[in-house]
Amino acid sequence: MKIECPDCRKAYKIPDEKIPFGKKFAVSCLNCKKRIVIDLRSEAKPNKPPQPKKPEKKAQAVEPAPEPSFGKNQPSGIKLKYGILRTLDDLPAMPHVVQKAQGIMARSDSNIKELARVIELEQAIATRVLKLANSSYYGMSGKVSSIQHASVLLGFKALGDLISVAGISNLMSKNLKGYQLDSGDLWRHSIAVAFGSRIIANRKDTEFGNLAFFAGLIHDAGMLILDPYVYERKDSFDEFMADGENTFLNAEKTILGFDHSEIASELCQKWKIPNDQRIAIKFHHNPSKSDGNELAFILHMADYIAMVNGYGTGTNGAEYHMEEGVMDFLDLREEDVEYIKKDVQESVDKMSEEVHAG
Ligand SMILES: [Fe+2]
Ligand SMILES: [Fe+2]
Repeated sequence: MKIECPDCRKAYKIPDEKIPFGKKFAVSCLNCKKRIVIDLRSEAKPNKPPQPKKPEKKAQAVEPAPEPSFGKNQPSGIKLKYGILRTLDDLPAMPHVVQKAQGIMARSDSNIKELARVIELEQAIATRVLKLANSSYYGMSGKVSSIQHASVLLGFKALGDLISVAGISNLMSKNLKGYQLDSGDLWRHSIAVAFGSRIIANRKDTEFGNLAFFAGLIHDAGMLILDPYVYERKDSFDEFMADGENTFLNAEKTILGFDHSEIASELCQKWKIPNDQRIAIKFHHNPSKSDGNELAFILHMADYIAMVNGYGTGTNGAEYHMEEGVMDFLDLREEDVEYIKKDVQESVDKMSEEVHAG
């Protein structure tokens, strides 16, 4: 579907499968930053088989609609948040190998042999790393036969990325019913944000690029935790979103009392993620509140680019609104963003084929 900014006439193409037909949604124009509102409440999803006509209802006396309750009978706010935080210990831990690899990469005196040794200790991760190393993303289909071989061919940085991607792929590939994300949707979104964040951060230095890549991979991990609570309150969320004026993020805040970025930040503490990345993840939807955390701005921008590329996060992605001043803060021009968009699209397509193939 093509959309056009009513102000500057800049046109965008969004894949049909990512369009929330039947809903009203809004995006920000990358060019003039104006909000573009698209009302598809009367539009059905294309190519849908014709639905049998519902029998017409007999005329009834119209009763006033009840006031929205937005889940008033279910726990929310501090009480719910503490309840959720108590369950964090039951959640899958960050794979040990990923934590170790991050530690090695953060040291200035580390070397690629150390990194390779860490992967070899865990067979499941090693297999996934090899599969990814042979993906078309690295252009070496079938040529990488061992971790040692991968370390020689790919180098330190790429091997570090592969460990993170391979270690987190199971965690991020879940089907999230509350957020209406099929298996693989959050995964593709996460690697899109990781790639976008790396490109932007690399403009400063490559070490910052590594941190940004990892933060991008896990920035929406809070959704994994909140999903069952969102699903339990599905009716309240549907009611809150019905007029198309609200974002899903606002719905989380209103109905639950907090949003997925706050929970992700708590999870980061459990995963012992360094403070700068944790703060960036906490403020990835509102970087202006992060007290100038550059990584928060980068995640926000990369999140937006992922959404424009069609790698949104179901209900959440369609209403993504970019904060004003983010491009200026990051010193990005529209041409840069177009380049990043293209690069991210190609990278995700090439890598995700392998992750989800068997
Ligand atoms: Fe998010
Ligand atoms: Fe996101």
